[in-house]
Amino acid sequence: MGKAKIIGIVITLSMVFFPYLARAQGNVDKGKNLFTQQCASCHGPGGKGDGPAAMALKPKPRDLTDKAYMAGLSDQHLLDVIKKGGAAVGKSPLMPSMGAAMKDNDIQDVVAFLRSLAK
Ligand code: HEC
Repeated sequence: MGKAKIIGIVITLSMVFFPYLARAQGNVDKGKNLFTQQCASCHGPGGKGDGPAAMALKPKPRDLTDKAYMAGLSDQHLLDVIKKGGAAVGKSPLMPSMGAAMKDNDIQDVVAFLRSLAK
């Protein structure tokens, strides 16, 4: 078997398995439960920004199911805004810092859930 063929096989395998590797970073189901408990009051049960507390907020939470908007936010940004709060990333201070209430693992699960919404 030639070198080029082996490289081709390796690339094909990486492409096939990459989505699974990427997804292995966070648990969507756990993230959904956490989101329902900790975030839905403002962000709405489905992340659309229509939670009961959102009415009182200015600016309102964004529609986290908006594919184009979410595609512009890196995983690191999402981890940061959830862990450190809105003010830490130049957003509204009404987006609370969850670092004290949630472990990094939990936050990763929530990010996985958010990614599953905006597809
Ligand atoms: C008290 C209400 C409130 C709660 C609770 C809350 N958020 Fe937010 N969140 C906001 C507001 C308000 C913004 C909008 C900030 C802005 O656009 O300046 C926001 C923004 C965000 C953003 C978008 C950041 C961006 O760059 O546009 C993400 C992602 C987010 N919140 C995730 C979460 C997650 C996950 C939780 C639960 C762990 C949570 N929020 C809990 C109010 C809240």
